[in-house]
Amino acid sequence: MTDDKAIATFSAENRRFEPSAAFRERARIKSKADYERLYRESLDNPDGFWKRETSELVFERPWRTVTEGQLPHVKWFVGAELNVTKSCLDRHLPARKDKRAIVWESEPGEVRTLTYGELHAEVVRFAAALRGLGVQKGDRVAIYMGMVPEVVVGMLACARIGAAHSVVFGGFAAESLRDRINDCQAKVVLTQDGAWRRGSVVPLKATVDKAVLSTPSIEKVVVLRRLGDEHAKVEMKAGRDVWWHEVSEAADPAGGAPEVVDAEHPLFILYTSGSTGKPKGVLHTTAGYLAGTHVSTKYVFDLREDDVYWCTADVGWVTGHSYIVYGPLSNGATCLMYEGAPNSPDWGRFWQIIAKHQVSVLYTAPTAIRAFIRAGNEWVTKHDLSSLRLLGTVGEPINPEAWIWYHEVVGQKRCPIVDTWWQTETGAIMMVTLPGAVFAKPGSTGLPFFGVKAEVVTTDGKAVGANEGGLLVRRQSWPSMLRTIWGDDERFVQQYFSEIPGNYFTGDGARCDEDGYFHVVGRIDDVLNVSGHRIGTAEIESALVSHASVAEAAAVGRPDDLKGQALVVFVTLKPGFTAGPELTQKLKAHVGQEIGKFAAPDDIRFAESLPKTRSGKIMRRLLKDIAAGRETAGDVSTLEDLNVLSKLRAVDE
Ligand code: PRX
Repeated sequence: MTDDKAIATFSAENRRFEPSAAFRERARIKSKADYERLYRESLDNPDGFWKRETSELVFERPWRTVTEGQLPHVKWFVGAELNVTKSCLDRHLPARKDKRAIVWESEPGEVRTLTYGELHAEVVRFAAALRGLGVQKGDRVAIYMGMVPEVVVGMLACARIGAAHSVVFGGFAAESLRDRINDCQAKVVLTQDGAWRRGSVVPLKATVDKAVLSTPSIEKVVVLRRLGDEHAKVEMKAGRDVWWHEVSEAADPAGGAPEVVDAEHPLFILYTSGSTGKPKGVLHTTAGYLAGTHVSTKYVFDLREDDVYWCTADVGWVTGHSYIVYGPLSNGATCLMYEGAPNSPDWGRFWQIIAKHQVSVLYTAPTAIRAFIRAGNEWVTKHDLSSLRLLGTVGEPINPEAWIWYHEVVGQKRCPIVDTWWQTETGAIMMVTLPGAVFAKPGSTGLPFFGVKAEVVTTDGKAVGANEGGLLVRRQSWPSMLRTIWGDDERFVQQYFSEIPGNYFTGDGARCDEDGYFHVVGRIDDVLNVSGHRIGTAEIESALVSHASVAEAAAVGRPDDLKGQALVVFVTLKPGFTAGPELTQKLKAHVGQEIGKFAAPDDIRFAESLPKTRSGKIMRRLLKDIAAGRETAGDVSTLEDLNVLSKLRAVDE
């Protein structure tokens, strides 16, 4: 392992939290022995395990063989035919027709409910409308929307007709949207006039207008009227732009019949940052992804028929795909969906929503938890949270203090916490402290989920001992694994399978303790995790370098109480430009414009030059130390110009 990739592991956390007897008694999996039995079965007899565990899903034709091929290219449920929406919608129609599928709360406080019957009807109509617009099986549809029920309708309508959706987070700028559309050659983009965010309007359609100026593949733009002319007047381009309600109302539901597809047919593409400037289009396919999200949702959230389940993620990220849409709906759950920001109008918003809708399962992220801690307990404790019975966390390691706060202040020591580790690429939860079955340890993401063989290894692939740090890998494939990177299979193989040949490398460093519990210590590649969003340093650097003043840039993370990691960039300027607060503001705005506001650097430092190895690689390890204000540790003999370091420190002061 190179120095740049060294993994530090440290933790003195030994507290254990057993589920209460009352929780355990009603849980789907009641003991460690039950977990171990199912886990063994999932590895030893995957065919039998997945057949039983997916028996309530709808397959038009069962699979012949459970898997075929070897990593990197493995097919799951070979020969099966299905349409995912039949499992998420049609199968519920007799028994759950009037059950609430989506309970939506807008930022200003309106509530809209869609029952399974209503959601089914909307999806069928919109699927017919998409077909009417020329979308066919195998096409791609980009979705650039906010958190409204129609985003779910749009995704499912694509799945209904066998088109792959590519949801682009509504915080991305026009340039990022444009690149993602061009990469997957989407034919249609779904958007809305605008969305509320902290009381102001996010002009989604206007951003689409800019993006599609240079996306030759786009034929139609479908616009949902969410805010109306008063708040978000949009221009509709004749021949290209159509209103969502008009095409939907005009469509004949008979045109919304489900397309039966092969198990390995593309379901969606979701772009995620890589260590080069170009985002990767992670491709998920049909049967394996559905099986993975269905089974994990059922067991991890221990779902019951009367739960009101709330995953606070944005649908633009994988958590929203798997745990707002496909997992919960395939289980017939009632899902709460919230349009706005957690602090709008104040920091009590989440807790007020939980009390109002009697939410019983809450799934959120450490970055949100830390923000709530900072805002003060009174925002939480003034609301009645007695409906909660289970809490979940995802996105980054949760620090034990935040875990304890979540447990005591939100869960009132009553609710188990599931710390769920997974990735855009894994599609579904891979490691977890299964509630009811096992104890939790603050800061640990627990044991492997069913079907997952996780291991921590050295750079030459040898297993490390208990509590030793190493690389987190998967020895074998699992159903919801990404199948490739859209249009670039070589990059797929290189990115995930070259570090430890024959294994899927997660990009994370980890250790496994004496109880078999995994502790993830963070990414070892050049990818940052800022507020739960994975951002490639290279993406930020190339955005900076695209500014006229910047010669070279290096982005690194600095530990941050609130965001997990704050984004610090080191910049060298072209001649004729002067460092200073004015340029700092301009550069922050520029990155915001190029990638999205969430990626704007927290800190910009100007330097005469950047420290590099002889091969010209920027020594991020040193920059990380400087950004964190630490003494520089370790070997610097490969530094090309040692003076650079002291100059950077001087700038620092
Ligand atoms: O580093 C791990 C971290 O988030 C990365 C995956 O990011 P992304 O693909 O954006 O998906 C986030 C939501 C699934 C992982 O490689 N990560 C995610 N969950 C955890 C975590 N790190 C520690 N503990 C977790 N529970």
